[in-house]
Amino acid sequence: MPSERSTATVSKAQHPSQESHTTHFGFLHIPVEQKVNLVRRHFNTVAYRYDFMNTLLSFGIHYAWKQTAVDLMHLKPGDQVIDVCGGTADLALNAANKVGPAGKVFLYDINWAMMVTGKPKVNASPFSENIVYVQGDAEKISFADNSLDGAMVGFGIRNLTHMEQGFREMHRVLKPGGKIMCLEFSEPTPPWFKALYDFYSFHIMPAVGKVLAGSRHAYTYLPESIRLFPGPEELKSMLEAMGFCQVFYQRLSRGISVVHVGTKG
Ligand SMILES: C[S@@+](CC[C@H](N)C(=O)[O-])C[C@H]1O[C@@H](n2cnc3c(N)ncnc32)[C@H](O)[C@@H]1O
Repeated sequence: MPSERSTATVSKAQHPSQESHTTHFGFLHIPVEQKVNLVRRHFNTVAYRYDFMNTLLSFGIHYAWKQTAVDLMHLKPGDQVIDVCGGTADLALNAANKVGPAGKVFLYDINWAMMVTGKPKVNASPFSENIVYVQGDAEKISFADNSLDGAMVGFGIRNLTHMEQGFREMHRVLKPGGKIMCLEFSEPTPPWFKALYDFYSFHIMPAVGKVLAGSRHAYTYLPESIRLFPGPEELKSMLEAMGFCQVFYQRLSRGISVVHVGTKG
């Protein structure tokens, strides 16, 4: 396990260019090639309790965030959509409701354990026929160029070793006019609320994670990786630089989460 944890020197340059040799795993500096396995191990550890912990730690608000995020994509019946880093399928289920029986949602995740955890939820929904499971890496999406109407990623992009590569892949698989949506944690804006949120996420969340999910470390990674993620304006510029147009974002719950939506030009 890597050990160089440095909170003092953390920068938001979490995601290395393809040439750099180190990256972050939370606040740890690690060799680039280790990240994918550490992320996989992390989600193997938390998979069986992922939905329960998400609901508990967010007081259930994550469901409303996901609903809003998918609404903002304005998907149409018959659309084909990929849920990158889709995990236990919450966004996929929302999207399946929009695209209807004529559409398809591809639940795409590197970690089979996460998708299997979401399977009972999908099977119990009216959309099980419309959701297709695909195991794969978000940095090399196994879909053809210009093939999909929507590409969404929820709370996943910050886990990639090369975040920009993940966005480039989403751009590549979208048809011209297709929509990208990224829902991600951010840092809330009012200073008093941020102080409260910092205390909650760095102290309460890891303690609850240790008691209820058996891993303090897994729930330390979460707030650390959030602090390293680009702010909403920076992310908007990044998406525009990649060729997305009409990019906008909406802060949710005083900026705890932010949803970005853009269109492939
Ligand atoms: C925090 S979960 C988010 C799950 C779901 N999107 C949600 O909103 O609840 C992040 C997911 O990203 C997946 N993931 C991490 N790295 C990945 C990669 N390189 N390619 C595809 N999926 C990845 C993990 O397995 C995990 O299921």
